[in-house]
Amino acid sequence: MKKFLNLGLQPLANSYLDHNNLNKKEKKFKLVIGFNPKNYLVSILNTVPKEQMFNKDYPYKSSESSTMRRQFKNLSINLKKKFKPNILLEIGSNDGAFLGNFDKKKVIGVEPCKNLANITIKKGYKIFPKYWDTKLAKHITKKNKIDLIYSANTLSHIKNYSEIFKAVNASLNLNGILVLEDPSLLECIKKIAYDQFYCEHIYVFSAISLQKVLNKFGLEIFDIENLKTHGGSNRYYIKRKINKTIQISRNVKKNIKKEINFGLHKFSTYKKFSKKVSESKIKLKKIFESLKNKDKKIIGYGATAKSCTVLNYCNIDKKYFKYFYDTTSFKIGKYLPGTKIKIKKYKKLKIKDTNYVFLGAWNFKEEIFKKEKSFIKNGGKFITHIPSPKII
Ligand code: TYD
Repeated sequence: MKKFLNLGLQPLANSYLDHNNLNKKEKKFKLVIGFNPKNYLVSILNTVPKEQMFNKDYPYKSSESSTMRRQFKNLSINLKKKFKPNILLEIGSNDGAFLGNFDKKKVIGVEPCKNLANITIKKGYKIFPKYWDTKLAKHITKKNKIDLIYSANTLSHIKNYSEIFKAVNASLNLNGILVLEDPSLLECIKKIAYDQFYCEHIYVFSAISLQKVLNKFGLEIFDIENLKTHGGSNRYYIKRKINKTIQISRNVKKNIKKEINFGLHKFSTYKKFSKKVSESKIKLKKIFESLKNKDKKIIGYGATAKSCTVLNYCNIDKKYFKYFYDTTSFKIGKYLPGTKIKIKKYKKLKIKDTNYVFLGAWNFKEEIFKKEKSFIKNGGKFITHIPSPKII
């Protein structure tokens, strides 16, 4: 593993603080990112035990985003039409935003965060509140194997990928399919979106790295869709290599070519990226400093895990901020880890509250700009660090 980026000492990005533990010492870890030249995997080097990240206090709920709800709905229609699965399993079913689109008798969920698992259990879904591994996979599929496994923004959170794919192999039908969706490394590197790296995102996958890894487990990618979610994601359709009934789409070659042309297989690409990240830090800090010197206070929009990484890395704390706005009920009234900036319940932006808004949820830029049309029309400005820091 060759190191290329050091994002410093970081708190756990989703461990929001409440008033009572505001002065307690936070757990921090060194966020260093490396590249494996053998299998092209990019991953964080010092991982945090899963129990510290994915537990009953996990704040992220897929259902709270209208973009995610819409996307899951459309996908479920397509999957039913294309693959007609009799039985479907979701790894990381969260609060059921995807699963809820299927017949209760035909889906199984795996979700280790008990607060989230309970939401779907109460609705009558069959959910295993456990971490995904071979033992669980064998237990679940003792009687019937699975036709389709779906997992979005979850497999990249699991350190032991051998265990993931062994468990997939143990539970899938011979003609079964795995649909896996995660942020795209190509988009992350292109956009200088270094905030994709935080404790939970152990890997940021590329098609070339997945291809290498899957090969070891007798699996292969047969199609790839490029998505806008999470700042640019890929949806990989995966089958067993021995299954010759499905043709490999031209999209696979196309995506691999794009990645190779960009140099995702070369360490030098990541060194260049790392240099740009350092430059980004300096530029963003300068913007905040100059606004502070003019006595401007900034509001943050979307108290994301990504914001946590950026602000801690750039040493931008509550001195510069009035507060963050967020729509997630769990986050309201809490404070961002590390920087301790207060999170308030979202209200439509008004010039009288602030002229400057830091776009923490830059991955929802279009949705947000549409919502805040009148703020923009009245001269309101956004600060973004993607792809390079500027005021827009
Ligand atoms: P997310 O994209 O999941 O980012 P991360 O994985 O880095 O935490 O989170 C988006 C956050 O932004 C979520 O807390 C909700 C918030 N948000 C708003 O407050 N208002 C909005 O209009 C949108 C789109 C998101």
